[in-house]
Amino acid sequence: MNEYDSELITTILTDAGYTVTAALDEAEIVLLNTCAVRENAHRKVFGHIHEMRHAHKDKPLLFGILGCMAENLKEDLLKDKNLDIAFIAGPDSYRKLPDIIHEALGQQSQPYAITLDNIETYDGIYPTRKSGINAWLAVMRGCNNFCTFCVVPYTRGRERSRTLESIKDEVKDLVAHGCRQVTLLGQNVNSYHCQGIDFADLINEIAAVKGLSRIRFTSPHPKDFSEKLLTTIADNPKVCKHLHFPLQSGSTRILKKMNRSYTKEGFLAHIAKIRNICPQMALSTDIIVGFPTETDDDFADTVDVMQQVQFDSAFIFKYSPRKGTLAQKKYPDDISEEIKTARIVQLNQLQKKISLAKNQAYVGRQQDILIEDISKNLTRGRTDSHKMVSLPGKPEHRPGQVITVTITQASPHALKAGNE
Ligand code: 5AD
Ligand code: SF4
Repeated sequence: MNEYDSELITTILTDAGYTVTAALDEAEIVLLNTCAVRENAHRKVFGHIHEMRHAHKDKPLLFGILGCMAENLKEDLLKDKNLDIAFIAGPDSYRKLPDIIHEALGQQSQPYAITLDNIETYDGIYPTRKSGINAWLAVMRGCNNFCTFCVVPYTRGRERSRTLESIKDEVKDLVAHGCRQVTLLGQNVNSYHCQGIDFADLINEIAAVKGLSRIRFTSPHPKDFSEKLLTTIADNPKVCKHLHFPLQSGSTRILKKMNRSYTKEGFLAHIAKIRNICPQMALSTDIIVGFPTETDDDFADTVDVMQQVQFDSAFIFKYSPRKGTLAQKKYPDDISEEIKTARIVQLNQLQKKISLAKNQAYVGRQQDILIEDISKNLTRGRTDSHKMVSLPGKPEHRPGQVITVTITQASPHALKAGNE
């Protein structure tokens, strides 16, 4: 979502007469579009600012912090003398950025815009995309779920969806400019609804756009995952058969504390339904270890779900308390760093084995891949199930082509195909 927002910001600033450069040497103002979802994200931003300052001791740079960290830490960021931030702007304030920067350049004040807006969807602003085969496309913003560990509802506000008409117009424009795959984005993408259109309807409408090869989306919440959506994915050949389905924990007790609104059994029942209606669906997930009070038994439930489901891949995180969340206010962060580390290591090892076995099952099979990039000797693309495949390059390969290849080798993270 932040990559997409940075593309929106580029359009807003370019329209206002600013020139965007990726070269620090040419820049007067540095914008950091930040994430607040985990502690690590904060640390990276602070580290990055200090590095850039250090590398540019002789040239004064104006730093602006955008995104969720701005919304989360607010004026505290501006007060930090070490950071010396010129301005901040939250995720709903990007239309105001030209004015904010203008004011900051006057150096009289540290302007900020951190008010959430219940209707802002940036409708009508076409992101300046780094050309490519895939385009990100936010169809809804915000989240109403309030999982107790998560800062997103506080930094991105309430759910709001864009109209079908504006989304479709944008997809047509993208296809006209060479894009072949859209990835629909939303913090809680499957709760999309606008003027009687739900997420399944939206997908079918987008799939009808001629010239588009593939549709992906991220991230759904299990609680809003309807059978209608599942059959839409199964029946529509343009919709990729890959689902990111965040588990977070396998323990019903912890899930309740997380306010995830499903149980271990409920999650497994969802998976059984998915496998029944769409057996070829690849599954990935997010898992948090060390949520407050997580016991060995709770953790064993997470291991058990992972073993039962056999996800294709998993993003596994150590719990970190986030400012303003219910978990941070209510539950002490009582699981030691050692235990969190031991648990994350164990899950990563387990997942590596499962991912390898899943990928090995592809060896010898034919797959359609959408070519994403080509270098002199190597062509890379993804299967429908989102596996990265590399194969020897050929002069006739072009980004955006769908070609059929036979998989010859597998590692836990990728596949290789031979010469056809
Ligand atoms: N601590 C650790 N992981 C978190 N996530 C969200 N909030 C936290 C937190 N406080 C993870 C969840 C989510 C992913 C985007 O980040 O697994 O699905
Ligand atoms: Fe955060 Fe996702 Fe839960 Fe919303 S559904 S609160 S974005 S983890």
